[in-house]
Amino acid sequence: MLLPATFPLIILAAGIGARMGAKQAKQYIEINGKTILEHTLDVFLSHSRISQIVVVLHPKDDIFHKLPIAQHELITTIIGGDERVDSVLSGLKHLNQMSNKTNENQYVLVHDAARPCIDHTSISQLIEVCENDVGGILAIPVADTIKQAKAENSLIDKTINREKLWQAQTPQMFKLQDLYSAIISAQKKGLNITDEASAMEHSGASVRLVLGTSKNIKVTHPSDLSLATYYLADKEKTI
Ligand code: CTP
Ligand code: MG
Repeated sequence: MLLPATFPLIILAAGIGARMGAKQAKQYIEINGKTILEHTLDVFLSHSRISQIVVVLHPKDDIFHKLPIAQHELITTIIGGDERVDSVLSGLKHLNQMSNKTNENQYVLVHDAARPCIDHTSISQLIEVCENDVGGILAIPVADTIKQAKAENSLIDKTINREKLWQAQTPQMFKLQDLYSAIISAQKKGLNITDEASAMEHSGASVRLVLGTSKNIKVTHPSDLSLATYYLADKEKTI
């Protein structure tokens, strides 16, 4: 019987966490005795369809290599760039260089270190939907009523129909070569690329939305820490 394919993963951990305002970058804040980055890595290291992990670090990071998980045989590290998209490019280039097996059909997953509450079921669903497709992202339908402000003030211009609105999450999964070309060409056009899908959309690709869960929060502000602590404790109970 043919074994299910496995895929490389890029974990983005080169940010400084300015909005969190902690002493260290937010991926190194401890929750239940483990850093946020270790929580995130543990989920993927224990998923059967992940072949290797490239962790993208800040040039001044002097913490990661002191963590026991840095010795894991599936993990390598690389230095990221000023913007999230630059860190993604570093990871993609590294994977390209590492593997002589890389072909035009090689897929890659990209995930924010700051989303430690990601679960196995969501990862499996994303892979199952995307592995024979252009690619896609985990996302959830927008729950709140959405207002558009008038330019540069806090007066409401209008209410946006939320029927078709989704909130993008990670992981996102695309063919490595497609994603690389899409990001390079978007950058040449001076477009602002805030996630992998936006680069792919600009390239004309039809990107699939895969239903995730609202627990897959991006830990951004101090108030997100208590929710992440709650979700992570809950997750450990169910494993
Ligand atoms: N990231 C990265 N390289 C950058 C910027 C961000 O690898 N140049 C990573 C972050 O470490 C994070 C993910 O991308 O895991 C999502 O970014 P965000 O939540 O914005 O994290 P920060 O940029 O660290 O936070 P802030 O914007 O508040 O400074
Ligand atoms: Mg940021």
